Amino acid sequence: MRLNFIEFAKKEKFAIPQININGLIWIEGILKAAQNLNSPIIIGTTDKNIEFLGGYKFISNTIKNKIQAMNITVPVYIHLDHGLTVEGCKEAVDAGYDSVMFDGSKLSISENIRLTKEVVDYAHEHNVFVEGEVGAIGGVEDGLSGQVRYADIDECLALVKETNLDTLAPALGSVHGKYKGEPNLGFEEMELINENTQVPLVLHGASGISKEDLHRAISLGHAKINFNTEINIAWSNQLRKTLTEDKNLFSPQEIIRPSIEEIQKTSEKIINLCGSNNKSDAITKMYS
Ligand code: 13P
Repeated sequence: MRLNFIEFAKKEKFAIPQININGLIWIEGILKAAQNLNSPIIIGTTDKNIEFLGGYKFISNTIKNKIQAMNITVPVYIHLDHGLTVEGCKEAVDAGYDSVMFDGSKLSISENIRLTKEVVDYAHEHNVFVEGEVGAIGGVEDGLSGQVRYADIDECLALVKETNLDTLAPALGSVHGKYKGEPNLGFEEMELINENTQVPLVLHGASGISKEDLHRAISLGHAKINFNTEINIAWSNQLRKTLTEDKNLFSPQEIIRPSIEEIQKTSEKIINLCGSNNKSDAITKMYS
């Protein structure tokens, strides 16, 4: 098993951002941001959108080719977000993903453990990391909606111990998509889960969470933080602005280029927020 770069982030008290892509133009913006700020980065693809993106193999190969074409030297990890089935997770592993999340949070804990373990056993044989989830992250994203259900500490412990997973996403009040009202993270539960499980924690639904709360979550063991909505808002606002400002514009490059720049700028903001800027050399050294 490789050294776990997320454990390193946890030890050094920063988080590696996972930024989800919703189309191929996202890749360039995110890679440029990571390279500019010398930051490791995780590119996420949510399972619900895999077909839209072209499939596991296509997306994995495309990101890898883009890394080469752009001469990217910082560590880039390709991650399957909210894997819906064991078969899908295995397919992503075979397609060259670096890590996969199996989201068994809607199942009973025994079924969640059984299927997460099946993914872990397969993924670890191929040097791929696995993230599991307990509780329910609320909100609406990619057509999926749900209510917040706080993670239970005993279920977290059972999932970690019995599956040997690498990272845990305990739902603690965060939501996917836009928050209705103020985010209310369960910091007491977070402290308990962090002390007892020891594995690096993953925070989903980070768009809209304050800098102070994100830093507190990092200090309580979160070493991977997931963003999607914030980038989508920045991208769509810019696209609308470009088209409104010049109603005669029809060149795709002229229309799309400013929105890629917004993806980059927002990714840079996220990297600075997570404190992963200038951390790429230390991680590269771990693997050399
Ligand atoms: P946001 O859409 O709230 O940024 O959450 C992203 C996420 O958690 C993906 O798993």
